[in-house]
Amino acid sequence: MTEFEVTPWEVKGEVDYNRLISIFGVKKIDEKVLDLMRKVFGEIPFYVRRGIFYSHRDLDVVLQDYLNGLPFYLYTGRGPSGPMHLGHIIPIMFTKYIQEKVDTILLLQVTSDEKYMYHETMTKEQIKSYTIDNIRDILALGFDVEKTYVIDDIRHINYLYQLAISVARRITYSTVRATFGFTGDTNIGMIFYMSIQATPAFLGYFIDNKFKHCLIPAAIDQDPFWRLTRDIANKLGFPKPSQIHGKFLPSLKASGKMSTSQPETALYLSDDKKAVRRKILDAFTGGQATAKLQRELGGNPDICTVYAYYKYIFEEDDKKLMERYEKCKSGTILCGECKQELISRVCAFLQKHQENKEAITESDVEAYMLDNKLKFEELIKAYEMLR
Ligand code: TRP
Repeated sequence: MTEFEVTPWEVKGEVDYNRLISIFGVKKIDEKVLDLMRKVFGEIPFYVRRGIFYSHRDLDVVLQDYLNGLPFYLYTGRGPSGPMHLGHIIPIMFTKYIQEKVDTILLLQVTSDEKYMYHETMTKEQIKSYTIDNIRDILALGFDVEKTYVIDDIRHINYLYQLAISVARRITYSTVRATFGFTGDTNIGMIFYMSIQATPAFLGYFIDNKFKHCLIPAAIDQDPFWRLTRDIANKLGFPKPSQIHGKFLPSLKASGKMSTSQPETALYLSDDKKAVRRKILDAFTGGQATAKLQRELGGNPDICTVYAYYKYIFEEDDKKLMERYEKCKSGTILCGECKQELISRVCAFLQKHQENKEAITESDVEAYMLDNKLKFEELIKAYEMLR
């Protein structure tokens, strides 16, 4: 068994996603949930069909209530500690899909405070510029401005603080220490931070009290936050937030997830054609040592990082994906061909993305910001009901 470790701040080794389900105490998406999804979305969503979003907490309750006329809102987020790569936008694109299907609001938290406190060598200036840049990347994916609220923790702390202290008062130091593995060297900001990440799981009820639930699509490494948020939700008078958990987009090298600390393992949203080409040509594949051997023995798509990109993002058609899989196994398609086609798909995607991002003005961004959408005095007044 290969060792791995998953925390909200670090993922090491080859992740065994099934074992994570039992370690975290979450549920696999089963037939019952699939059936509810068919009813709510009219189909099984792409990321679920591909097994990329694969586990959950109380998703069945949220979907069933939705079918009974009780709406939910969405909450997801991004930690602005560097430029964004393709892996980072998968949960965000999935969230957008759900938002459009069920026509609901989304709270999108950008955790400038978390990244400032965690990365002790980064400056406030750096964090601020990643915050702005990342928000532009996210908005380039095309969110409904009427229904999408962007929260920058540092900028919007006055909108969050009353909720955060109500959360903080109910979580002990020993719980946080045990859940996140904090030690005596951990700064006290990180200990309090938990309560900031919990706030959007409740804030939506103040925006519109028609909501019955909050659903959080996120990569599975964030689950420890949700576990603690769920533990205190009822004590605060709110429903427990529900989750749907995603896997990580594999690195372009042999193992592990894409990582900002190893630029050659990831495709950044800002990469130019040259970089995309270089990284993909250099990627780890499931191919044989020579073309001759590959024709004879076939390749192994199950361990191939190039195939993973088709599966996660760049081949929408299930049938065509299956064909690629079979052609690889039988040796009728070689790695070079697979890589060339991926290069052109990635370049087309990134070019469009970069154009969209370029077109976003400062005032476009401002229109999404929480403080331009919520009346502060009214919110503060409503917060008085908090115990
Ligand atoms: N902690 C997350 C990160 O480092 C950012 C985040 C905040 C988030 N709230 C979230 C991610 C909700 C997913 C869902 O990336």
